[in-house]
Amino acid sequence: MTRIDSTPTSAMLAPTLLHAGQAGSEWWRDAVIYQVYPRSFADGDGDGIGDLVGITNRLPHLQALGVDAVWLSPFYRSPQKDAGYDVADYRDVDPLFGTLADFDALLAEAHGRGIRVIVDLVPNHTSDQHVWFQAALPAAPGSPERGRYIFRDGQGSDGELPPNNWQSIFGGPAWTRTTNDDGTPGQWYLHLFDSSQPDLDWENPEVRSEFEDVLRFWLDKGVDGFRIDVAHGMIKAPGLPDWDGTVSMVEGTEGGEVVDLGAPEDGSTGAGNSGPMFDQDGVHEIYRAWHRVLAEYDGDRALVAEAWVEPLSRLARYVRPDEMHQAFNFSFLTTPWSAAPLRTVIAASLHANDEVGAPTTWVLSNHDVVRHASRLGLAEPGLRPNGIFAHEAQPDEELGLRRARAASLLMLGLPGSSYLYQGEELGLPEHTSLPNDVREDPAFFRTGGTEAGRDGCRVPIPWEADAPGLGFGPTGKTWLPQPEAYARYAADTQRGVAGSTYEVYRTALATRRAEQLGSGTLAWVEEYATSADVVALRNREVVVLANLGDEPVTLPRGAEVLLASGPVMTDRSGDPQVRVPSDTTVWLRAL
Ligand code: GLC
Repeated sequence: MTRIDSTPTSAMLAPTLLHAGQAGSEWWRDAVIYQVYPRSFADGDGDGIGDLVGITNRLPHLQALGVDAVWLSPFYRSPQKDAGYDVADYRDVDPLFGTLADFDALLAEAHGRGIRVIVDLVPNHTSDQHVWFQAALPAAPGSPERGRYIFRDGQGSDGELPPNNWQSIFGGPAWTRTTNDDGTPGQWYLHLFDSSQPDLDWENPEVRSEFEDVLRFWLDKGVDGFRIDVAHGMIKAPGLPDWDGTVSMVEGTEGGEVVDLGAPEDGSTGAGNSGPMFDQDGVHEIYRAWHRVLAEYDGDRALVAEAWVEPLSRLARYVRPDEMHQAFNFSFLTTPWSAAPLRTVIAASLHANDEVGAPTTWVLSNHDVVRHASRLGLAEPGLRPNGIFAHEAQPDEELGLRRARAASLLMLGLPGSSYLYQGEELGLPEHTSLPNDVREDPAFFRTGGTEAGRDGCRVPIPWEADAPGLGFGPTGKTWLPQPEAYARYAADTQRGVAGSTYEVYRTALATRRAEQLGSGTLAWVEEYATSADVVALRNREVVVLANLGDEPVTLPRGAEVLLASGPVMTDRSGDPQVRVPSDTTVWLRAL
């Protein structure tokens, strides 16, 4: 059943109204969803790697924070060549993380605390240790076993050249040649990521039915949804044509005839991948089929697309009414810290999603990008470098944190669903001085060490300032070293401390819920926007004002501050007036 969730009041029907609320009351439309990266969240057994028991033990933290759901990055059986995004068995838990019983316990405990659980599904590729790939390797060219993947003969007189010129997103060629049983070189297989992650052939009905079955396995257990990895990559253009663009996790896709990053007015930032391996029309039929599977289950289960696609109108095709339910908004994540582009991307996001009746999502950090507390402290804030080395320009920690809190409060004041990445509620910076010999990200190795990769945003969470390993687990072991600074950010130093990042997030989530901002409306409020560097919007009865300029902004007399991302100043001469400093966001009661 659907209902109009937010009827605009007459006061909101100003000419600047951009978003009038949406039909539908499903939980995911306005949810705050917290990403747990299992290996780095909390360690239950003391081996230095986070696990499911660790997560279960820390659920009270997430309940107190006030999130609606968690998304768990992969915990399935995997040789961990890409931190679990290389799945060897989609129906089992890797012993590193625990057992299926541990998962059932986690799910029950989360549900008991009112927290929904989304799991990660990795359908573009399997691990090379998956039984299918292990069967494909010794099988003959053209066999059903090879037909589940994308095996091709090489070019050149002896097949010594790859079938086409595609590059892996992690660097290097996207093809690896196999060796026949007799030691002679054989066919090549496609891998858009690491060579240990062979791409499946989604034109093969057996692949489709297998994944529908995997969906049912986890739906039967009671999961509330799936985050779909590389959702824009599963169908490749017919004939796998050469392509002269480059794919990268750093700045999207560039070059080649097919690239159209769109006009800046549409909110595009260059975050989209394109080329014959991405965003092909054929992917949508897969999601229509999955939509039908989820619809057989009760409780508004949801599909969330990880699709680096631009412009936003193109991304919105993934969340048409009969497809997925949400798609990550990477245009928002990659928008520079600057008022005009932020206004543009907010408006474009709402517009594109309203066209298809889907909620917009908002996200600032995840396990693939530099944490926003550091990204926004770079000289060019907003860029998404693939990791930061110690010898490179370092982010300004204090500035980055101030901006990160302001950005988060702006995000949480927007209508739609927001994603948080573990540790951002503590204001954690990126680890920018990891020694290379502890790095694990294949992007570091496949680029020959030219890209630091993503390990710096995956460092174990600091829970207790005075405990070994900052309370990550019972032994003090951590699979990556924590930077010294993390002691200052430990959760136990922030709980109950007014003005701490954790308390700002907690209060924001509570206020967002009380004021129903997630299902709210959006209008720009010109009267508050005293400078071009201010983003000022009204969502229901709350005004959200972010000051990105260098000068403080004076609020109208009588403005009631509900929440601020940092200290605000009160001018006590004459009528008191609140001034909002640079890089600060406030939530106000609308006058
Ligand atoms: C997605 C994941 C990333 C992973 C890649 C390959 O982009 O978020 O972590 O490396 O897919 O599965």
